[in-house]
Amino acid sequence: MAADPTELLALAVDIATAAGELALRRRREGVEVAATKSSIVDVVTAADRDVEAYIRVRLAQARPGDAFLGEESDASAGTSGLTWVVDPIDGTVNYLYDIPRWAVSIAVVEGDDPATWRALAGCVVNPSLGEVFAASIGGGASLGARTISASEPATLGTSLVATGFGYDAAIRVAQAEAAVRVIGSVRDLRRAGAAALDLCDVGAGRLDAYWERGLAPWDFAAGALIAAEAGAVVSADDVRDGRRLVTAAAPAIAPEFAALLRRAGV
Ligand code: IPD
Repeated sequence: MAADPTELLALAVDIATAAGELALRRRREGVEVAATKSSIVDVVTAADRDVEAYIRVRLAQARPGDAFLGEESDASAGTSGLTWVVDPIDGTVNYLYDIPRWAVSIAVVEGDDPATWRALAGCVVNPSLGEVFAASIGGGASLGARTISASEPATLGTSLVATGFGYDAAIRVAQAEAAVRVIGSVRDLRRAGAAALDLCDVGAGRLDAYWERGLAPWDFAAGALIAAEAGAVVSADDVRDGRRLVTAAAPAIAPEFAALLRRAGV
């Protein structure tokens, strides 16, 4: 029987909300770096691992035939054709510093290749603010009980744009250089440290556009669906070394924004 996106979303929201409460409790108890990953500033905390383990167990109980792809543990194959894509704490550095901008991100996709998969449902929870963003394919996007939609900026020059930087210092410098070539053509730039929330903010009209090169599937799977279902123009098809350029923009400025990014050499 085909999976119902609305039911999948209800499960994602239930698990992400509980996982967010766990992460918030762990944050209040105090957080330390457990290990580093791709560079000395790419950290993982014990909470990242515990929250992912919690989500994984809940999903295995509810949907034993589905595959799993998470940031902090090994992927596992399934039999149903569906994959759960999980970032237990997106914005780990914010989490470490107790900046209340980090999120639990859970998406479920059809297929297992980020190049071709179709996201069916996604939920991004910011536990510090009690905000729950959610979307299912064809079902629109919401923030709590409210339907959200992308903004309608008059011009690119008056648009508020966000970006993000990777953990590798050389890559980060190149990204910042590209950002310098963008900043003069927009209202201003934000770098708030959690890609999933940046994408949700484009969906909620709190940002007019966002781009970041170098994202992993778990960073954007849920947020990209939420932004797209809110009416933003979203792309994630430019891949280098397995990592993607993800863009999301209000429809009115999307073509001009894409052209600006190309000129800036993003
Ligand atoms: C990171 C955040 C950050 C983005 C990085 C991501 P993590 O995810 O989303 O905003 O700039 O590219 O890796 O490591 O906190 O899950």
